[in-house]
Amino acid sequence: MCGIVGAIAQRDVQGILLEGLRRLEYRGYDSAGMVVRNDSGQLVRHRELGKVAALADAVDHQPLHGGTGIAHTRWATHGVPSQDNAHPHMSGERLALVHNGIIENFQELRESLEAEGYRFTSQTDTEVVAHLIEKHYQQTGSLLTAVRQARAILHGAYALAVMHADEPNCIIVTREGSPLVLGVGIGEHFAASDPLALLPVTDRFIYLEEGDLAQVELDQVQIWDREDAVVTRSVTRFEHSADAAEKGAFRHFMLKEIYEQPEVIRNTMAGRMTESRVLERALGAKAMELLPEIKNVQIIACGTSYHAGMVARYWIEELAGVPCSVEVASEYRYRKHVIQDGTLFLTISQSGETADTLAALRQGKDAGFRAGLAICNVAGSSLVRESDMVVMTQAGPEIGVASTKAFTTQLTALLMFTLALARQNGHSAENEKAIVEALHLLPGQIQEVLDLDADIAKLAEHFVEKHHSLFLGRGTLFPIAMEGALKLKEISYIHAEAYPAGELKHGPLALVDSEMPVITVAPNNELLEKLKSNLQEVRARGGELFVFADRKSGLKPEEGIHVMTLPEVHPIVAPILYTIPLQLLSYHVAVLKGTDVDQPRNLAKSVTVE
Ligand code: G6P
Repeated sequence: MCGIVGAIAQRDVQGILLEGLRRLEYRGYDSAGMVVRNDSGQLVRHRELGKVAALADAVDHQPLHGGTGIAHTRWATHGVPSQDNAHPHMSGERLALVHNGIIENFQELRESLEAEGYRFTSQTDTEVVAHLIEKHYQQTGSLLTAVRQARAILHGAYALAVMHADEPNCIIVTREGSPLVLGVGIGEHFAASDPLALLPVTDRFIYLEEGDLAQVELDQVQIWDREDAVVTRSVTRFEHSADAAEKGAFRHFMLKEIYEQPEVIRNTMAGRMTESRVLERALGAKAMELLPEIKNVQIIACGTSYHAGMVARYWIEELAGVPCSVEVASEYRYRKHVIQDGTLFLTISQSGETADTLAALRQGKDAGFRAGLAICNVAGSSLVRESDMVVMTQAGPEIGVASTKAFTTQLTALLMFTLALARQNGHSAENEKAIVEALHLLPGQIQEVLDLDADIAKLAEHFVEKHHSLFLGRGTLFPIAMEGALKLKEISYIHAEAYPAGELKHGPLALVDSEMPVITVAPNNELLEKLKSNLQEVRARGGELFVFADRKSGLKPEEGIHVMTLPEVHPIVAPILYTIPLQLLSYHVAVLKGTDVDQPRNLAKSVTVE
């Protein structure tokens, strides 16, 4: 996904901008560019298709000297990856802009700007914004006012950084639905879509809020909120000033990655949803054309990604009313399968290089599926390159072999996809709004669960001497029970099985005794009463219960029943929230057992062979 970096300093900023872009590479992109105001007051721009390294070569060849500049990595949505479509976009020679997100009303704006004589050189929605701001600049002579007036006309989600050759030492930035932070230096200031981009130059950040507009100058920043009132936003020190591929203050990568989940889920949603709806275009340029043709969905994945697919099946059938099958890739590829008309082939993979998943995708393509959609965390991976549509998760590099943040960002992406598909099939705007609102609340609620870490670490003590365990769930929480069991077996080597709670009587109940802890995820949903009966069945056989539930479930701790209370959530997003305590539980059991948490025996992060 796109990345923004901007800098104003009393030194050349080209190196700062390039390093910032390198640090945003993990987000995925297909072209890169930058513009700098030189000492003669001209804007000089380089744009390159491909990697930041290509841009660095261009800058080496023709340096961009100057103290004010903006830079960008682009992930194509409107218009193919190309030099013309790469950012920064300019209106004339004097105004340049970089943009993350999607402008929904770009078509009508483009037509009216063309009618007024503006000439377009790209297929992007971004260029519309450049000309629109230029038009207002002509009328007002102030970049700040021009951006303010232009954004009142824009619909969609965006973060913008804009500069004008006639306003030296000034960048105007604004955000609405896409992330943007300001970096605070001494006599210099910066902007970026991710603080990681600016860590070499500062550790002090101002996180802009939705609707904020800021004038960034050498010695100061001024910020206005959506109502144009001057506001002061606090300066925060970046707590984990470690690089993404360093553990920083955390003992293990897995713990660091568990704790990153509020932020990476926010990043995965950024620019893809308004306050009340998902933006179809965020699913890629082809989504608008393909989604109405989808009559059924075949999900293929492995490991943790398969569990994400299992949750998605419940969502897709419930919300979109579209038939959905889900299967592990290694099974699917070696059996005869039938591809129906209008099949969307949905692959899910953190790495995008899992051999079985790739092989299944290629078979599905040969068998004539309608379209391939990949949910993936690694830009430029084989899966991404070979799919018609891609939704990148924004988990950042995941180092721990046991997948955590990749899983919850996959679920977030899958739910956004489901909502877009559901809209095509008559899902009400009101229901969509309720779910989108629940998604916006989710990062904060995950933080509340992370705050229970010490209590969960205490629970973990009960597992250290155990050899077996049973995880139970119903509905969308059954795949979460499977994921919980997978985490525990992967890193603590305790045998863990997951069952849909309704199957308990059909076999596993025979195993339950005081040596078999039973873990269950039990939010207050329509299956709760049935689940409670299953729990009684366990208790009656002396099994010790560990229940994760919300207050409304009415489940109380008693002899042999440990209850951990989680925040109340919309039932549709509950599987995402309920994953977190199970990750923490496994982590602490593994630490107590002294296993190699980040690199468990016999396992690999990316399974590129069969
Ligand atoms: C390996 C990893 C798991 C992952 C699975 C699928 O088993 O250890 O964490 O879930 O592969 O990988 P993918 O990259 O396709 O999601």
